[in-house]
Amino acid sequence: MKLVILGPPGSGKGTVASRLAKDFHLKHLSIGQLLREEACRKTKSAKEISKFINKGDLVPNQMSIDLVKKQVKKNKNYILDGFPRAIGQAEGTKDLDIDLVIYLEVSEKDTLERLGKRRTDPLTGKTYHLIFLPPPKNIIKRLIKRKDDTPKAIKERLNVFNKETKPVLKYFKIRGMLKKVNGAQTPDKVYAAVKKAVEEL
Ligand code: AP5
Ligand code: MG
Repeated sequence: MKLVILGPPGSGKGTVASRLAKDFHLKHLSIGQLLREEACRKTKSAKEISKFINKGDLVPNQMSIDLVKKQVKKNKNYILDGFPRAIGQAEGTKDLDIDLVIYLEVSEKDTLERLGKRRTDPLTGKTYHLIFLPPPKNIIKRLIKRKDDTPKAIKERLNVFNKETKPVLKYFKIRGMLKKVNGAQTPDKVYAAVKKAVEEL
């Protein structure tokens, strides 16, 4: 099974994808996370990648396409979290044979509320929300905020979504591959709706 999950920043892509990965035995390929890991390495491209991410801009298409191609070679069943998010990326990976593209629809107001109180556990990589998906009390002190969760970078990420990724949603809709899910519900309800769509495949 080959899935894609798209949606604006903070729409819940990672939250849903990690549960799908567990239930359907899929490799969770978060391109944002893979790029953040790449940015921490001591390589030539690491600094360049950091700059794009911290500003809220997309890394160049060829870079994300190469990263995805490398990963999908190693995994037969996967969920691509946040890829493709530009038409050039969709065109450059036509041969992937994606089964379904899930689009989490969430308003800008909701995404801002979610990103403002998102925290990540550096030890497990798990993501929480201080109100909506609260972490266990004993780990709160070690939780961190993502570097691109600043008002300026969030604004840019939303602009990029509207300008670059919305055409990708249309691209998949025309091809009958898009499943729109109301992402503005509780995490369990959103997940149930997504799971149903995947089970119907
Ligand atoms: P990426 O890491 O993908 O960031 P993003 O798209 O901005 O999305 P987020 O990860 O911020 O949010 P999410 O939708 O995963 O929501 P989450 O589940 O965390 O990309 C980062 C950067 O990498 C990009 O800006 C770009 O620079 C680069 N990049 C990535 N992909 C690229 C590509 N294809 N090409 C080029 N560059 C690329 O949830 C958010 C919060 O809400 C959490 O606190 C969570 O607990 C909470 N929450 C989740 N669901 C709910 C719910 N139903 N109700 C209430 N709260 C909820
Ligand atoms: Mg994410």
